[in-house]
Amino acid sequence: METLELLEPQTTQTTDFLPLNGTDYLELYVSNARQAAHYFQTAFGFQPLAHAGLETGLRDRESYVIVQDKIRLVLTSPLHSNTELGRHIDQHGDGVRVVALWVDNATEAFQETTSRGARPFMEPIREEDENGYVVRSGIHTYGDTVHVFVERTGYNGAFLPGFKPWNPHYQPAPVGLKFVDHMVGNVGWNEMNTWTRFYAEVMGFSQLVSFDDKDISTDYTALMSKVMSNGNGRIKFPINEPAEGRKKSQIEEYIHFYEGAGVQHIAVATDNIIETVVALRDRGVEFLRVPNSYYDDLKGRIGQIDEEIETLRPLGILVDRDEEGYLLQIFTKPITPRPTLFFEIIQRKGAKSFGKGNFKALFEAIEREQELRGTL
Ligand code: FE2
Repeated sequence: METLELLEPQTTQTTDFLPLNGTDYLELYVSNARQAAHYFQTAFGFQPLAHAGLETGLRDRESYVIVQDKIRLVLTSPLHSNTELGRHIDQHGDGVRVVALWVDNATEAFQETTSRGARPFMEPIREEDENGYVVRSGIHTYGDTVHVFVERTGYNGAFLPGFKPWNPHYQPAPVGLKFVDHMVGNVGWNEMNTWTRFYAEVMGFSQLVSFDDKDISTDYTALMSKVMSNGNGRIKFPINEPAEGRKKSQIEEYIHFYEGAGVQHIAVATDNIIETVVALRDRGVEFLRVPNSYYDDLKGRIGQIDEEIETLRPLGILVDRDEEGYLLQIFTKPITPRPTLFFEIIQRKGAKSFGKGNFKALFEAIEREQELRGTL
């Protein structure tokens, strides 16, 4: 009996040593933050929130913070050559550098994770201005990606100390994006278990589901994936690695162009995917398309749903069902010149899964795009 107890994974313990309230912000390093902010405002309906740059006393970088409901994006560019920021962009292209997590105690979060083996990125630091103080700390995760823990109970400013509210004339309407549902990391060959172990041991996450290459393979592409979730389920990180297929896996293509492991997609939730996708399409967001035949036998595969199939079909919205309900989802094409980062729009109607039933149709769509890029 005692031996069995010893085998219990540590994540079943009742006290969560790393309580997370949610995603605080995602910071993208981009070559032109000003234009990227305009793109995310125009195309995705983000609202201006805060700004930091030369005017606020920063000498080496400029950041725009945009928001839609609970989703905060920070877009940051360097102001000079030979910066760490510039090198990140040079190597990876535009991409996600910081996945910031909202905590009640950033000092404890740092101690709990680094004592379990996390590589420190930022020692706890208290920053303050006339609106109060924020404590942040950070650790490294896969590739050049980092997690920053943000403790903001003592703060009521627009974003963080050092940022000024940004309230330009141009404020296109939101499109109904609510919060980050999950965020996917792509890692290299045979590295999936290294990083799922990292999230389990260092951050106290547990594994929700796994998919192997038999679940997720087409004629060509193949990948393996495990979904890691924190204690209260607010943070979900699927981790993908390439699997051997007849041609190049989409994960391998990502790793090749990102030049390392990194964030593959940000899944954002909406309460009305039809309205959201209609708005996004009108604003120029391009989505992956599955063949029309996907919809012909959809009702047979997923049963009764509230939405009309004939409404979903022209929009290319996908549906999948699990034991608890169903979900609707759609994936944008990469939003960067390199075929790396993209967004997923998801609406959950009970389902807690990730659309496994759509993988095959979806990956065939991705392969058609890969073929056009000559990277299959
Ligand atoms: Fe996803």
